[in-house]
Amino acid sequence: MTTMQALVAHAIGEPAEVLRLETRPIPQPGRGEVRIRVLATPVHPSDLHILRGRFGIAPTLPAVMGSESVGVVDALGEGVDDVSIGQRVITVGVRETWQEFVVADARRVLAAPEAVSVSTAAQMITNPLTALLLVTNQLEVKPGEWLLQTAAGSTVGKMVLQLGIRLGFKTINVVRRRAGVEEIRALGGNEVICTEDEDLRKRVTEIVGPGGVSKAIDCVAGQIGADVSRSLAPGGKMIVYGALSTHRQTEADKLTIPIFARSIIYETKIVQGFFLPRWFATSPQEQIKAAIGETFELVASGILRISEGEPFALTQFAEAVALAEAPAHRAKPLFVPGK
Ligand SMILES: NC(=O)c1ccc[n+]([C@@H]2O[C@H](COP(=O)([O-])OP(=O)(O)OC[C@H]3O[C@@H](n4cnc5c(N)ncnc54)[C@H](OP(=O)(O)O)[C@@H]3O)[C@@H](O)[C@H]2O)c1
Repeated sequence: MTTMQALVAHAIGEPAEVLRLETRPIPQPGRGEVRIRVLATPVHPSDLHILRGRFGIAPTLPAVMGSESVGVVDALGEGVDDVSIGQRVITVGVRETWQEFVVADARRVLAAPEAVSVSTAAQMITNPLTALLLVTNQLEVKPGEWLLQTAAGSTVGKMVLQLGIRLGFKTINVVRRRAGVEEIRALGGNEVICTEDEDLRKRVTEIVGPGGVSKAIDCVAGQIGADVSRSLAPGGKMIVYGALSTHRQTEADKLTIPIFARSIIYETKIVQGFFLPRWFATSPQEQIKAAIGETFELVASGILRISEGEPFALTQFAEAVALAEAPAHRAKPLFVPGK
């Protein structure tokens, strides 16, 4: 076999319209590189942001999409002696994963823990690591403290509330659908606010008192993000790490949060962004290694459970993208190239 299939974007636009399945030569690993036969690679909201031209990173087109994967090493370049053929590995910060074979720098692959499923291994970095960094490195949420979070039913949101149980902090979880409330309670979320029929700010006051909540994370932005910032206590801090309310928006200028300046100024609140690729680019290697090691331990030991993804062949990209953006989707779409 000398050729493979790859999902390639040729233009910015609606994901299902600009992606094309192409036949390409199977790549050869160069010095210090390994070739991986991809077993599974997820469709994350960020992949769709890139395709719509509104993400913090813009690849040169045409480009194969995808940012996280698990696979089996099937060829080694010269000078690679700490990875072996047949080993199951996870790629870290390697892009262009939506294809049958990926070539990666050998320093950017890690052995996949034996205990975890292919679906879990394919999702072990981006979301669990983000959740861990938000509650530790970014906000240092202490045992007994409240943390307010939006889109609590997202993969990141579920990791955060599982971390709350592990680390002893309490979560106020915001969801947009009444039907989503029970799942969050079953997972151990302390309080749930449903914006379908409840006022976010009023409910936060009822839960923590009129002083507000000291720490919050938000990945919805828009009016919900603004309501979260107004629910902060004086001196409180909110980390914004996504903008789900503007997901189909292709004009980057429309990704906004209508912050109430009076409360930010006079109550000296902090609203700060978080972007995992920037954290990777600006953090010391030792810190990155330690955080990934901790994430792997939490997932491999079952403390953090990642819902099983729904497998799709590369040919089914339109269905996979539709599932990724469908309201109430229970599973994350995973491309399984051998399917
Ligand atoms: N900054 C970073 O470095 C970083 C890293 C990782 C992830 N993220 C961001 O984290 C967010 C979650 O990612 P994920 O992979 O965990 O998502 P996911 O598993 O695909 O889940 C998406 C969730 O968002 C909810 N949602 C969608 N649109 C919404 C809206 N308009 N208002 C309120 N809730 C909405 C959905 O609710 P329903 O159940 O009601 O449909 C669903 O629970 C994304 O914005 C992603 O870009 C950022």
